[in-house]
Amino acid sequence: MRAKGKYELVSELARRRGFFWQSFEIYGGIGGFIDLGPLGTKLKHKLEDAWRDFFLKRSGIYEISTPIINPRIVFQASGHLESFKDPMVECSKCGRKYRADHLLEDAIGTKFEAIGLEAIDAEIEGKGLACPECGGSLSKSRYFLTMFETTIGPYSEAIGYARPETAQGIFIDFKRLYEIARGKLPFGVAQIGKALRNEISPRQGPIRLREFTLMEIEFFFDPEEECEALGEVGEEVLRLVPASSRERGIEEPIERSVREAVREGIIINGWLGFFMAKSKEFICGLGIPEERQKFHEKLPNERAHYSAQTFDHEVLLEDWGWVEIAGHAYRTDYDLSRHSAFSGQELRAFRAYERPRIAKTLKVVPDEAKMREAFGERHKAVMEALMRAEPEEVKRSIESRGYFEALGEKVGPEHVSFRSIEVKETGRRFIPHVVEPSFGLERIMYAVLEHSYSTKGDRVVLRLPKKVAPIQAVVLPLVNSKDLEGKAKSLWEALLEAGFDVEYDDSGSIGRRYARADEIGVPIAITVDHRSLADGTVTLRERDSWKQVRVRAEEVPRCLRSYLSGDLGFEEVGSS
Ligand code: ATP
Ligand code: GLY
Repeated sequence: MRAKGKYELVSELARRRGFFWQSFEIYGGIGGFIDLGPLGTKLKHKLEDAWRDFFLKRSGIYEISTPIINPRIVFQASGHLESFKDPMVECSKCGRKYRADHLLEDAIGTKFEAIGLEAIDAEIEGKGLACPECGGSLSKSRYFLTMFETTIGPYSEAIGYARPETAQGIFIDFKRLYEIARGKLPFGVAQIGKALRNEISPRQGPIRLREFTLMEIEFFFDPEEECEALGEVGEEVLRLVPASSRERGIEEPIERSVREAVREGIIINGWLGFFMAKSKEFICGLGIPEERQKFHEKLPNERAHYSAQTFDHEVLLEDWGWVEIAGHAYRTDYDLSRHSAFSGQELRAFRAYERPRIAKTLKVVPDEAKMREAFGERHKAVMEALMRAEPEEVKRSIESRGYFEALGEKVGPEHVSFRSIEVKETGRRFIPHVVEPSFGLERIMYAVLEHSYSTKGDRVVLRLPKKVAPIQAVVLPLVNSKDLEGKAKSLWEALLEAGFDVEYDDSGSIGRRYARADEIGVPIAITVDHRSLADGTVTLRERDSWKQVRVRAEEVPRCLRSYLSGDLGFEEVGSS
């Protein structure tokens, strides 16, 4: 019999114990959607909280929530309407549709991101590829817009789209958020929420969904300022696959400290490096070792339209290979500039100089009498239009063409003169730049489950990191007896009262209950037995070692807190 792959094992456990399963199961299921069960939902909340705790709490990054449905103008401005497309081919026989680059990847074994339609068609033809399901011939490739379209209200002209990223909500609110940050840079804004992408052929369970959860930070900074936080993470070593290596066919990671990578120009922005180092630390903290992580730079033609540099933070999964769990993009001033142009709103920041500076600037001085003579009644309006124009532009036009056109009138050198004047400047206005770490929650959740999945004999032990275990402890009366149940229940209530995620379980033999607790990743099982009634102690059993210690029942909340926070090792809990 074929040995089951890790993905199959984890998915089976996930279904049986209530982490996740395919949505719409009773109607046959639809690819790209999963439901999170009771444990999956708890795990999701814990991962979100761990992310908040790690990235937001101590760095003063704000969190906001904005709508999933956005009007068309948002994605016109952001460039998604033009660029958020994947190549697709269709089988002429069975009608199945495939994402063309993934079809090539599966058939040939190398990545084919963003190679263009003509190159895709040439590959398909050259290799004689056919429909993997029925062998039918494949159509020419075409682009498919992967945003879900809808209408807002009953008006067919009010087209809206479900957001494919949470980022745009943050850019749109920049003006208010900048005020809330009291006009200071740098600052970051985060959003956790659903993103929707109408993926063409999702087949990888929680890895490729049509509706998933993003945890994103848009970090705004002045591009002329050094990254002040590099000191904190500068020595952190990253495994990097730079685009320059990939262009030479090298996919092996190189190791560089963040400081070196920024100095050598491998990472082109300090803040990008900062968040990549934090991202590695965060994922290590979820039990995924460094050697199973790398940062894979996208080639220029693979990058999203808004990005000047992108690194995919990838982790190694047993059945899926290297999978991107977070994207780190240097979005420059692209998004804010576009929203400013489309909305007509000022989205610049202001940075005051330490001391005001005197700058020389050009001033247009119209000769009103001559303009009245030339333009009659319109001369005032022409003068106003002239004064609204950039003085440099007026001068350049008069010098090169002999006139500057204002309201259709030709303003010549006889109508104006130019003066160089000195002005006091108190600061500069500029559009902030942005780096964006963007984490996919469901992919992280799956990666954590896979890395936690272990076996001991014929038992599954889910070694979930303590900080994200959905259930932190379970209280078990050794046997069904009124006295033991009474004592166990009062301990359970005390632990609930103390704020723990704790379960009470009295169904089945103690062995089966331990096995269930191991399988769903409960770090500590607490057993109340006959000795508990005599001397007030209970047994704590550690999931990862199966070792046991006895502590007094009233000490359990304190011991559990110290153990779960990592302050005390398990052996120390017993002797504390
Ligand atoms: P991929 O190349 O795998 O399609 P992407 O480059 O489109 O991913 P990004 O646009 O960078 O991904 O999205 C940010 C993060 O969102 C990814 O790192 C990933 O964790 C998650 N993500 C993206 N698409 C999906 C999806 N279809 N299902 C689940 N998570 C996703
Ligand atoms: N916001 C990152 C992305 O959607 O790619």
